[in-house]
Amino acid sequence: MTPEEFRAAGHELVDWIADYRAGVVGRPVRSEVAPGWVRDALDGAPPEAPESLDDVMRDLRDVVVPGVTQTQSPGYYAWFPSNASLESVLGDMASSGLGALGITWQSAPALTEMEQVVTDWLRELCGLSDDWHGAIHDTASTACLVALLAARERATGLSEARGGLQAEPSPVTVYASSQAHSSVTKGVLLAGFGRDNLRVVPVDPVTYAMDTDVLSRMMAEDVAAGRRPAAVVASLGTTGTTAFDDVPAIVAVARQHGAWVHVDAAMAGSAMLLPEHRALFAGVEEADSYGWNPHKWMGTILDCSLLYVRDVELLIRVFSTNPSYLRSTADGEVTQYKDWGIPLGRRFRAMKLWFHLRLAGAEAIRARLRRDLANAQWLARAAAAEPGWEVCAPVALQTVCLRHLPDGMTDPDTLDTHQQEWAERVNATGRAYVTPAQVEGRWLVRVSIGAEPTELRDVEALWDLCREAAGSIAP
Ligand SMILES: Cc1ncc(COP(=O)(O)O)c(C=O)c1O
Repeated sequence: MTPEEFRAAGHELVDWIADYRAGVVGRPVRSEVAPGWVRDALDGAPPEAPESLDDVMRDLRDVVVPGVTQTQSPGYYAWFPSNASLESVLGDMASSGLGALGITWQSAPALTEMEQVVTDWLRELCGLSDDWHGAIHDTASTACLVALLAARERATGLSEARGGLQAEPSPVTVYASSQAHSSVTKGVLLAGFGRDNLRVVPVDPVTYAMDTDVLSRMMAEDVAAGRRPAAVVASLGTTGTTAFDDVPAIVAVARQHGAWVHVDAAMAGSAMLLPEHRALFAGVEEADSYGWNPHKWMGTILDCSLLYVRDVELLIRVFSTNPSYLRSTADGEVTQYKDWGIPLGRRFRAMKLWFHLRLAGAEAIRARLRRDLANAQWLARAAAAEPGWEVCAPVALQTVCLRHLPDGMTDPDTLDTHQQEWAERVNATGRAYVTPAQVEGRWLVRVSIGAEPTELRDVEALWDLCREAAGSIAP
């Protein structure tokens, strides 16, 4: 494709994206395609000769669009917001157009230095001190794994340079609450700690925050038995109910044993942009690493996950490689992000954050977050005031956890089934998408407000829909 051909096709694609976003409201929010339908529709002989853009665009419209959940719809309340602001889409396009290769500072100095600039901007916007050093990863799962690998190496005095964990004289242990995201368990397993060395700390039955007394006991028992606590993963904004662990208490306990504290605020981290909500993030400044995803609520298109660490020197000792072909005269003077994590090749992810922040401005982002928080409070008040409904977890941010309790329905399992049924009825309308989830053994329905176009009137319509759906189920 020549640049001139690209210009024509690109204009068409941009028009298509703009039309798609403008018309997303009318589309069924949950993808209703059957398993295999997309594959069958797209399958055929591999293209030997070029096809027309029209043919590709037709499949994009007719097959791909119905084959995705409409996360940019005002009716999207599932999982967590996955906003893709159009400002950040432009940045992603610029990054693709540039096609920069991020393997060392030398391969694209702007890629490295813009990443320093935007991670510093977000650090400042979140009120964190300049003791923190940030990098952009693909996901919070990777960020957590990186933190756990650093924690492992700190706890074992860089065992990777000897026989690794296999040669360690005693096990090293990791702690996280029962409400921590599944990526924490995955990280613990992949970092080689082993499931037997993951301590699942129970949570408070009302707030769903980690029980730090039990954490303290578990750590003391491990130490008494000759095991070495390596890390605690604290969750700020759990996936189930947006619960906030008590980070100051966790840091205090972890410090007694020299354990690393990683704070996972994948979704909730956006709220740190709001000074009036910073109290929820107390203690983060004392942790060892802190991760959150602008690609969720804040709205910088996936994939864009920030990991801040305090001890970059340790990170570099754990992750650095230095093959001859990657060396340059700038070594020693510049940041080499390849030494801050797992991959060598790096996309120019900073560009989408840079476009997003520059074209939208922090104040507009903050205003949108505040709108969502107010909408969540509206829904929580409406549900709490409605007989037969329960708001079953504190509404710390923008996710409201609901249970419908019909008159006379008392059997816990029947109630669990009922929650899943009414959520399914809501979702089947195509007008909204909510997620039922099991939290500490019981089913509830999560309404995660915060899609970029969702206004109060949409939340009001959703609430009508929830009541209609739940009321339509015969007892
Ligand atoms: C609290 C929490 N941590 C981690 C993750 C994983 O995020 P990612 O998809 O970026 O790996 C999620 C995803 O929703 C989450 O809610």
